[in-house]
Amino acid sequence: MHKRLFIPGPTEVHPDVRERMSMPPVGHRSAEATELGEAVISKFQRLLHTQAPIFLSTSSSTGLMEACVRNGSRKKILSLPCGAFGERWLSIAKENGKAVHAVPVEWGRAVRPEVVHDALATGQYDAVLVTHNETSTGVMNPLAEIADVVREFPDVYLFVDAVSSMAGVDLDFDGLGIDGLLAGVQKAIAVSPGFAMMAVSERAVARAREIENRGFYFDFVRHSDAYQKRQGITTPSTSHLYALDLQLDRILEETMPVREARHRRMADTARVWAGDRFELYAEEGFRSVTLTTVRNTRGVDVPELNRELAKHGVVIANGYGKLKNETFRIAHMGEIQPAELEELLGWIDEILGLS
Ligand SMILES: Cc1ncc(COP(=O)(O)O)c(C=O)c1O
Repeated sequence: MHKRLFIPGPTEVHPDVRERMSMPPVGHRSAEATELGEAVISKFQRLLHTQAPIFLSTSSSTGLMEACVRNGSRKKILSLPCGAFGERWLSIAKENGKAVHAVPVEWGRAVRPEVVHDALATGQYDAVLVTHNETSTGVMNPLAEIADVVREFPDVYLFVDAVSSMAGVDLDFDGLGIDGLLAGVQKAIAVSPGFAMMAVSERAVARAREIENRGFYFDFVRHSDAYQKRQGITTPSTSHLYALDLQLDRILEETMPVREARHRRMADTARVWAGDRFELYAEEGFRSVTLTTVRNTRGVDVPELNRELAKHGVVIANGYGKLKNETFRIAHMGEIQPAELEELLGWIDEILGLS
């Protein structure tokens, strides 16, 4: 039996969107494929309030994290990890042999703009990596304030992992002055996993032209050339393009302000519930809008809880990485509706005898 996903990705996919995945393939150099790519690109541009190039990638998001480090810096990268996914970006930079320095933040806390300012003021860096929504700790970093600081340093380019926030909160690519904004489609965008996208500034493409060893599959320059022709660099997953074409319409029809408000309402519900019964892992003021990481203060056996929840046809997530047993996570992103979240929390109360 299918279990409804209250995990922070992949998330539930609307049946009409799922159906689009089974459209017959078209030749990827055909006029139909070009038109489809064009439609998806322009919908992403509307979503992100920009006319900047959009790279479509038949990969998961991690591929585009690698793209940013390979293409984005000539000098030295500033990494600001505050959880498992920020740490992943740091290791990707290191393993690609890039000059990188990390200013880590204690897990559960957010990156402060002052810290970013102090680091950039040293003049050592030309790129910054920020995880907007740290899916392990449930922290949403103050992106607008961090972007304000980065803009004070014109030679420093800002790369943002919005894997679990894009289409959950309204992101203004141009307004924030971001150089690379990436996401996978399997989280708040609510399409099946296996595809990712990135908005890239023209100046980031220009910088990439001067950088050696950018690789092939995630080369900004190759992607930019393909973008000009509204095609992929290689054979893309047309199933995902069909699905995105419809799902982006659904998102734009709901409108981002309304969609974000729905996510915020659910986040409030989850926080109140968790705060009354457990503790919240993320510090106050920086809690994620798309998922809630709960400190497992009652020592709940999460796999056992999930076995009981499966009887209601739903599943939640255990903690991520080193937080596996210390926390559990409830996602409220994508297509999940407030009433569904309330139903889920009611079942957890019932199973744990908390109501
Ligand atoms: C914040 C964040 N960054 C990166 C990733 C990696 O994404 P993918 O599995 O699509 O490569 C995830 C996945 O959970 C994530 O939550």
